[in-house]
Amino acid sequence: MNNHEPNQNQDENTVTDAIPSKRINDQQLRVSKIRDGTVIDHLTAGEALNVLAILGIDGSSGEGVSVGMNVISDRLGTKDIVKIEDRELSQSEVDVLAVIAPEATINIIRDYAVVDKKRIERPTAVTGLLSCPNRNCITNANEPINTRFIVLDEGLRCDYCDSIVRENEVPAYLDVA
Ligand code: CTP
Ligand code: ZN
Repeated sequence: MNNHEPNQNQDENTVTDAIPSKRINDQQLRVSKIRDGTVIDHLTAGEALNVLAILGIDGSSGEGVSVGMNVISDRLGTKDIVKIEDRELSQSEVDVLAVIAPEATINIIRDYAVVDKKRIERPTAVTGLLSCPNRNCITNANEPINTRFIVLDEGLRCDYCDSIVRENEVPAYLDVA
């Protein structure tokens, strides 16, 4: 097999799964180091797109963003990684990410060096992040009320009506994009 020319007709994962070492090299090539910005590392595989949704990144404003999915990781087996150029996430953005990605590491990069490494902590509550799935909830009634959810192990509970948003449903109810 020619390692340098993946067969376009073949599922890439099938090819690379058979050659783990090549897969790592591929990822390193695809997700190169950045000069300035934020690297969100050690995301559970499958979380990268949800992270982009939470941060309101859809590519429309021309930002430089690299996404690695199912990258091989010593610690996690496979992981996702997101690199955002020329943007340093604020603490409140980091807090919000903690709802879906409590295991992630946030690296702030300046002039190629990691200048800050934040392990994120799951917040106990989030305000103004999600809309409530309950149509009859006061937060859906055009009242000037911010949504507020209490963070539980298995999901989030609306502080007003007790509706539950499970972790895997969070992206569907995101109110930030
Ligand atoms: N990184 C980057 N661009 C840079 C510097 C670092 O994209 N200029 C990325 C690295 O690829 C890595 C993450 O930022 O995914 C953290 O970098 P570093 O702390 O150097 O790596 P590790 O020591 O492996 O991090 P950890 O201990 O968190 O696993
Ligand atoms: Zn509610």
